[in-house]
Amino acid sequence: MRVLVVGHKGMLGRAVIDESANADYEEIIGVDLEEIDITDPDRAMSAVTYVEPTAVVNCAAYTDVDGCETETELAFLVNGEGPGNLAVACREAGARLVHVSTDFVFDGGKGEPYVEEDEPNPRSVYGSSKLEGERNVSANLEDHVIVRTSWLFGRGGNNFVDKILARAEAGEKLRVVEDQVGSPTYARHLARAIKQILDTDYRGTVHAANTGAVSWYGFAEEILAAAGYEADLEMITSAELAAPARRPAYSVLNTDKLEILVGEALPPWQVGLEYYLREIGEYKGLK
Ligand SMILES: NC(=O)c1ccc[n+]([C@@H]2O[C@H](COP(=O)([O-])OP(=O)(O)OC[C@H]3O[C@@H](n4cnc5c(N)ncnc54)[C@H](OP(=O)(O)O)[C@@H]3O)[C@@H](O)[C@H]2O)c1
Repeated sequence: MRVLVVGHKGMLGRAVIDESANADYEEIIGVDLEEIDITDPDRAMSAVTYVEPTAVVNCAAYTDVDGCETETELAFLVNGEGPGNLAVACREAGARLVHVSTDFVFDGGKGEPYVEEDEPNPRSVYGSSKLEGERNVSANLEDHVIVRTSWLFGRGGNNFVDKILARAEAGEKLRVVEDQVGSPTYARHLARAIKQILDTDYRGTVHAANTGAVSWYGFAEEILAAAGYEADLEMITSAELAAPARRPAYSVLNTDKLEILVGEALPPWQVGLEYYLREIGEYKGLK
């Protein structure tokens, strides 16, 4: 299999490349914004038809959730039109497309884990732009998989774990929201699931996240305990934080379909956290 990873310098793209060391791909090629801007249909087409991949894994996105509220046009270009351009290019090249999307396509009001068939209802520009991307992929290419994931952390990303550790190390007070619940997901675990999905001939949408659920506050507590930090941690509400983008109160993804598809679920999020903290040399053992 010849795999083209788009957005390979981002947090997930990097993990997909790293995880390919455990795969028997004929070749894995990574490209990022300098080589291919997915918002340009011609460049997307020429890059994909030049590489002639068996599969394209799209990890490229505009992921600044609050930034999307003001950079609306860019959000819809990168997260909405970009995946559609890749889908058209994949159709031309006879390639499969694995496109990564988000739990933020849901409104968070269900109160139990979301299944793939649940109706999306995004509450933010980011979520709406990602939903448009999903629709542009499925409208333009039959041979596609949309992998929805949540609360990613891993190397090389602007992620919550790194932020908590940096602030704790600097002795800063931490104010973290308790009224948003989700499933933190280790990028390497997701990358492994993507590799397993590539080994199937599944077409459609599938949810992939570490199992279990926690609030951002609970996640921060666990990060600090596992990394051995004492910190001044204050529980706040989303209203108190007043972030520009609205986020779902409960966006846990049901991953039963993935488990049936590849034969195993991703590990619990606590295991993902431990692996990541070990990877960055910060693991001190849980409380
Ligand atoms: N992070 C999360 O918590 C999270 C949660 C759920 C789902 N997801 C989804 O998971 C996927 C991977 O997220 P991530 O956190 O790994 O993202 P990331 O670290 O922000 O990486 C995204 C990559 O895409 C590149 N990129 C941006 N615009 C591009 C364009 N027009 N053409 C080509 N490349 C472009 C970025 O380059 P520059 O850095 O140069 O802009 C960056 O290298 C995304 O689809 C995201 O929506 C993420």
